[in-house]
Amino acid sequence: MPKQFPPYERHVFICLNTRDEANPRGDCTRKGSEQVLERFKELVKQKKLKPRIRAQKSGCLDTCELGVSVVVYPEAVWYKQVTPEDVEEIVESHLVNGVPVERLRMHPATPGDSGKLNPIGNA
Ligand code: FES
Repeated sequence: MPKQFPPYERHVFICLNTRDEANPRGDCTRKGSEQVLERFKELVKQKKLKPRIRAQKSGCLDTCELGVSVVVYPEAVWYKQVTPEDVEEIVESHLVNGVPVERLRMHPATPGDSGKLNPIGNA
């Protein structure tokens, strides 16, 4: 299969920022973001979603108090306090089927928003 260049159908950023332990804002890495990133990568590979979906680390997303912070583009759905146990639900529901996981969203869907996005296309 030829290499696919961006844009990906869905692009997931997981904050792996670190701060000094004395910093009151804390950081996502201390809350387990490395394990969250590894789980995303594992499932994207296992479910053969590459190269249509990419999961990668990011720097601080400036929502540190709500970390582990994750954002999915192009629809800009932000997730908070994500754990490795949450990742399979995000992958299956949101990344594959286009249905964001409401219980983990930082910003709930607005009234009139069906919450349904497009599923990814067929390869
Ligand atoms: S440290 Fe993760 S959002 Fe700031």
